[in-house]
Amino acid sequence: MTQISAKDVPGMGRRQFMNLLTFGSVTGVALGALYPVVNYFIPPKASGAGGGTTAKDELGNDVTASGWLADHKEGDRSLVQGLKGDPTYLIVDGPDSIGDYGINAICTHLGCVVPWNAGAGKFMCPCHGSQYDATGKVVRGPAPLSLALAHVNVENDNVFVSQWSETDFRTDEKPWWA
Ligand code: FES
Repeated sequence: MTQISAKDVPGMGRRQFMNLLTFGSVTGVALGALYPVVNYFIPPKASGAGGGTTAKDELGNDVTASGWLADHKEGDRSLVQGLKGDPTYLIVDGPDSIGDYGINAICTHLGCVVPWNAGAGKFMCPCHGSQYDATGKVVRGPAPLSLALAHVNVENDNVFVSQWSETDFRTDEKPWWA
């Protein structure tokens, strides 16, 4: 960036120069304040066919399928921010494939985030001991229900998460979360 100083601006006294600087920073602040307003009128950038949201990593960056698969091996279940920012497991279900459903990590008992235990092949809640199988189906209480599902679609390397409102394939019942 080029630095401007008063001596670079012929005929401009220090006061005028300071005024110019002040004007610059006021303009900057004004533009900064306008940003959320302008942003409000611009629709969210990427949105999947099903009206989903882009999966984000823990830093809030968009998840790409290629980036994810470079770091996560087959069988991996790791968290992204999914619908409404809910922690959601993406499943790597092949050497080069992200599964078409994600598992909401919020325990159906009292809402703890349930970690995946790769050794046991289960999601095991540290709070009160509920367990869920690798698809998120509850196999041990006190959790009353299976973990919620979400659709996961990959389009142009973007990973989208969208609402699952169809039958829960694990129970053949209507989804309790929809
Ligand atoms: Fe998970 Fe209670 S919150 S078992």
